[in-house]
This record gives sequence, C-alpha cells and structure tokens, in this order.
Amino acid sequence: MTATNRQILLASRPEGEPSVDNFRLVETPIPALADGQVLVRNHYLSLDPYMRGRMNDTKSYAAPQPLDEVMIGGTVGEVVESRSDRFEVGDHVVGMGGWQEFQVADGTPGQLRKVDTTHIPLQAYLGAVGMPGITAWYGLTQIIDPKPGETVVVSAASGAVGSVVGQLAKERGARVVGLAGGPEKCRFVVSELGFDVCIDYREHPDARSLSAALKTACPNGIDGYFENVGGIILDAVMLRSNAFSRIAMCGMIAGYNGEPTPMQIPALILINRMTIRGFIVSEHMEFWPEALTELGSLYAAGRLRYRESIAQGLDSAPEAFLGLLKGRNFGKQLVKLT
Ligand SMILES: NC(=O)c1ccc[n+]([C@@H]2O[C@H](COP(=O)([O-])OP(=O)(O)OC[C@H]3O[C@@H](n4cnc5c(N)ncnc54)[C@H](OP(=O)(O)O)[C@@H]3O)[C@@H](O)[C@H]2O)c1
Repeated sequence: MTATNRQILLASRPEGEPSVDNFRLVETPIPALADGQVLVRNHYLSLDPYMRGRMNDTKSYAAPQPLDEVMIGGTVGEVVESRSDRFEVGDHVVGMGGWQEFQVADGTPGQLRKVDTTHIPLQAYLGAVGMPGITAWYGLTQIIDPKPGETVVVSAASGAVGSVVGQLAKERGARVVGLAGGPEKCRFVVSELGFDVCIDYREHPDARSLSAALKTACPNGIDGYFENVGGIILDAVMLRSNAFSRIAMCGMIAGYNGEPTPMQIPALILINRMTIRGFIVSEHMEFWPEALTELGSLYAAGRLRYRESIAQGLDSAPEAFLGLLKGRNFGKQLVKLT
C-alpha cells in the first residue's frame, strides 16, 4: 500500500479560546503493516468537548494531547488491509483512530471493536449507541436513578449526550425538562425527542430568571439534574432542587476555555441534602455492555432518536470543533472522512 494519509496534529496549545491555528494538517505515507496489525479507512471522526481539555497542559483526569501528534478522537471505519487473525478486510470497526483518514491499529482487544451495521448505522457507534450514549446511560441510571414521576432536568439537551439522557429518563417514567440554546433546538427536543418541556436558556440573562422558568416547567421541583454545562444553569437548577436530589456531573462546557464558573449558593447542597457526583465514562467499562444492549435495543425499536451535524472532509474538523464549543452543532458532531 503506497497511499498517503492525511492527519491533523495539535500544533500549539490555546490560551483561552482555541483557534484553527492550533491545528496543522500534514500528509504522511502509510507504513507497511507488521504482523497482527490492521489498516483502517476511517469513515467518520467524532468531535467531542473533552478534546478541548486535552489541548491544555494542565492536571486533569487524562494526560494532555502531545504537541505535533495526531489529535485524539473516536472513529468508525472499515478494515482495508489485515495482518491480524481477529479482523478481516471489510470489517466495520470503532476505535480511537484520531483526526486522520487512515489508522494503523494493533488489533489488540480493547483497541478496535467490530460493530454490526445491519440495523444500526456505522456513525451511530460514535453517538447514541457509542460513548456519548453510554455516558448518558451511566449518569442517568447509576447516579440520578430516577423513579417514575420524578422530574429530571438535562442541559445541552439536543446534543449527543443530553438527547439520550432525556429519552432514557422518559423510558423510566420521569418528567423530563431540557435546556438548550435557541428555539429550533428546543422545538426538536420536545417534538422529536419527546421531552415534556424545553427551556431556551439564552432567553435568560441570569440564574434567577432561568430559575423562574424552571419553577414553571418543574412544578414539583427537580429530583435529578444531568449537568453538561455549568455556570448559571447549575445555579438556576440548584435553586429549584428538591430534598435528596441527585446531580450527575458529566461536563461543564461553559468553563472549558477557562471562563470562571463559580457556584453561587453551595449551601443548597447541605440544605437539600443533595448528592453531586462527577464521573468519567471510560472509568466504568464494566457497564458498557449493559448500556449498549439497552441503547441498541431502543434504537432498533425506533425509540432512540438523535440528530447529527456532519462536517465534510478532514480539513473541516478544526472549524467544526470550534463550532461545537460554541453550540453551533445541532446534535452529535461528526466529520465525514470518505
Ligand atoms: N463525563 C464523561 O465521561 C463525559 C463523556 C462525554 C461527554 N461529556 C460531557 O458532556 C457534555 C455534552 O457533550 P456532547 O458530546 O453531548 O456535546 P453536545 O451536547 O453534542 O455539544 C455541546 C453543546 O454544549 C452546549 N454549549 C456549548 N457551549 C456552551 C456554553 N457556553 N453554555 C451553555 N451551553 C453550551 C451547546 O448546546 P446549546 O446550544 O444547547 O447550548 C453545544 O451544542 C460536555 O460537557 C462533555 O464534556 C462527559
């Protein structure tokens, strides 16, 4: 194989908001495979908010993305050459192929996983039936654990994680209220995803105003909150939280560029005897099979809906990633690489 690979590297670390200049596109020859290796043509790249954290060289739950190396990222694709007895040419696979058109993978268990595309589209393994869906499943079932009739609030409700959280909560008989940016996203959250209500948080300049809207949307208070954003949204939810409510701390995207996101009234944790628990989905691999079974079955039954924003071509990845951090995506942000 003499083809050329195109890759996007992290060229420099951002200070505050990232820009396209933090990335560099390079072309490299595809190396010959060693025994046990496979060559995968990546079809879709997943863009995810966690990538912003990896661009920093600061203490976190994961090591920083090294400079001048291929940006980390989840991918789905097809095996085009194999020297592994575990994979055949034509197999569809999901893995961490990075921001590049081809990947040479060792084919070791855990690095690449074969997926069945008979009933589930390939790219869904990067979204509702992949890491974001499992994130939703874990935070909802293991932390919020809603009872029928309880009220669950979800921020970034139209997004890859949030959209699944709300649908899983409805499956469990909860009243579900979403928060999303703009009327179009809110309409989708209610009419397509089946949430009971969706509040456009952009109409509310501060936590008090948003909290008043939540009071109307949640007449019985809030029992569970799936946190994707932070900042004034968290404050507004806490003002309406019930005794013994649970918050699954999944993400705080409002602060990913270093913006301060202080909690205004931490005393509410004590007053309401709240449980607030952070989690990282990759640290709970033992739950992935159970989560994937439920998500796959719901999808096959037509009860798991989602939306995708698809950018075309590897070159478009940096711009699409910057858009994700500003809410310009509408649903799971992917890059189509073929
Ligand atoms: N803990 C884990 O293991 C884990 C795993 C996966 C994802 N996450 C976290 O889950 C969250 C959602 O991820 P996702 O992949 O599903 O992304 P997503 O929701 O598909 O896209 C990000 C969304 O965040 C919202 N947003 C961006 N900047 C914002 C801001 N300043 N204020 C309010 N909202 C903002 C936007 O929606 P609106 O236009 O509606 O505001 C945007 O569409 C992120 O915080 C991510 O880091 C955590």
